[in-house]
Amino acid sequence: MAKKQKQQQQHQVMQQVPSVGGIRSSFQSLVALLIAILVVATIYIRQSNEQLFQYWTTYDKTISGLSSSCNLFAGKWVFDNRSYPLYKEKECTFMSDQLACEKFGRKDLNYQFWRWQPHQCDLPRFNATALLEKLRNKRLVYVGDSLNRNQWVSMVCLVGSVISPTFKTIHNNGSINIFKAIEYNATIEFYWSPLLVESNSDDPISHRVPDRIVRVQAIEKHARHWTDADYLVFNTYLWWRRRQMKVLWGSFESPEDGVYKAVKLPRVYEMALQTWAQWLEVHVDRNKTQLFFMSMSPTHQKANKWGGIKGENCYSETEPVTEEGYAGDGASPRMMHVVDSVLGELKTRGLNVQMINITQLSDYRKEGHPSIYRKHWETITEEQLLNPKNYSDCIHWCLPGVPDVWNELLYAYILEL
Ligand SMILES: *[C@@H]1O[C@H](CO)[C@@H](O)[C@H](O)[C@H]1NC(C)=O
Ligand SMILES: *[C@@H]1O[C@H](CO)[C@@H](O)[C@H](O)[C@H]1NC(C)=O
Ligand SMILES: *[C@@H]1O[C@H](CO)[C@@H](O)[C@H](O)[C@H]1NC(C)=O
Ligand SMILES: *[C@@H]1O[C@H](CO)[C@@H](O)[C@H](O)[C@H]1NC(C)=O
Ligand SMILES: *[C@@H]1O[C@H](CO)[C@@H](O)[C@H](O)[C@H]1NC(C)=O
Ligand SMILES: *[C@@H]1O[C@H](CO)[C@@H](O)[C@H](O)[C@H]1NC(C)=O
Ligand SMILES: *[C@@H]1O[C@H](CO)[C@@H](O)[C@H](O)[C@H]1NC(C)=O
Repeated sequence: MAKKQKQQQQHQVMQQVPSVGGIRSSFQSLVALLIAILVVATIYIRQSNEQLFQYWTTYDKTISGLSSSCNLFAGKWVFDNRSYPLYKEKECTFMSDQLACEKFGRKDLNYQFWRWQPHQCDLPRFNATALLEKLRNKRLVYVGDSLNRNQWVSMVCLVGSVISPTFKTIHNNGSINIFKAIEYNATIEFYWSPLLVESNSDDPISHRVPDRIVRVQAIEKHARHWTDADYLVFNTYLWWRRRQMKVLWGSFESPEDGVYKAVKLPRVYEMALQTWAQWLEVHVDRNKTQLFFMSMSPTHQKANKWGGIKGENCYSETEPVTEEGYAGDGASPRMMHVVDSVLGELKTRGLNVQMINITQLSDYRKEGHPSIYRKHWETITEEQLLNPKNYSDCIHWCLPGVPDVWNELLYAYILEL
């Protein structure tokens, strides 16, 4: 910036000089000199104004926090293989085979090298030590579905990279998975409840039930495990993505006594989120717990949405979408609106839940999914092998990758940068 101005300044002065040359009147040279002084003075004032402006913006950052003064969610992806990835896949002790794309044969590794660049500011660089200091004697709990678990694994990799093997543990107990940083007495946990409220999909291992049933008014069974955490990060979306849901009024213990009713989307989603919101309003200690809601993670099942071939999906994609403002069909604006209004209502009642709006930024990343490069739980048939797109995972995300950036956004809010 300063260099450019200097060049302009030299350029303008040079333009003046020839016109004064020779034995013309000294009046003309005086005018030229004055003009030159004027130009220099103007540039000087502009520069110091800029310094003043910079000073005020830095000041503003320290007062109100970067994340509240800048929209971190509007921006673009920049290829940056100098600062990314933030950790190596092989070096992450607790990596999941569902997400380890390099290990499962992916050759194009560019998905690891993208930095999210907000339009108005920079995303603060992730500092694992600083986060662990902040989490000392505290619990950070992710609650939700496999996308939230994807983000939890990313966080465990991110902070795990600065902890030696003897000072970190992981243990699973039913729906809860606990990573512990021993020296910090800090835990980073994941709690499985894909619909947040109670459902017949709550078993952390075998939850693929064909006939999905949800108790939209019941959350206590889950919530009592995490209500007193210091940081809570929620998500729920994908398991609701159908036309309607079967709702049970009654209990799963004696299902024959219950009343069942099919309720359409997005109404049933709203009912569940209201149950969740009411629980928080009554049970969360506002002085202690900071709340976050991850907006929906988009899927990339239909290549024709981004100008690819109809019938294809994320399989064999190697580059993000570059069209600014791109929105595919892998996320539901209607459901996003429901989340937005439930959070808005909670705010009027004095409970702040920060939405981390990852939907648009992740929508660009059609190449970030594991596709066929992951461990598959069911055996892949020979017929499928001939047609790889048929068993491609275009829902979850390779690590290192997109969820690391979700955590960088979360980090900015937790550290109040
Ligand atoms: C999420 O962020 C995108 C990009 O800035 C924006 O277009 C969209 O309106 C945001 N959604 C919500 C619910 O805030
Ligand atoms: C980064 O990418 C550029 C362009 O693709 C390449 O020339 C360079 O070798 C890469 N650097 C590293 C450290 O991988
Ligand atoms: C990371 O945070 C720690 C603790 O706050 C600090 O000592 C260290 O200098 C930071 N590292 C970088 C690279 O900023
Ligand atoms: C360790 O952290 C837990 C919260 O996760 C807290 O209840 C406990 O008091 C802490 N222990 C010490 C020794 O500070
Ligand atoms: C697992 O969780 C249950 C219920 O929360 C608890 O009673 C039990 O002690 C836990 N087991 C282990 C090994 O942590
Ligand atoms: C929260 O903090 C405020 C101000 O310090 C205090 O008045 C209030 O009683 C606290 N609430 C709870 C539930 O601890
Ligand atoms: C691939 O998927 C299409 C559409 O879902 C289906 O018609 C076809 O039978 C599948 N083929 C294989 C080999 O699984």
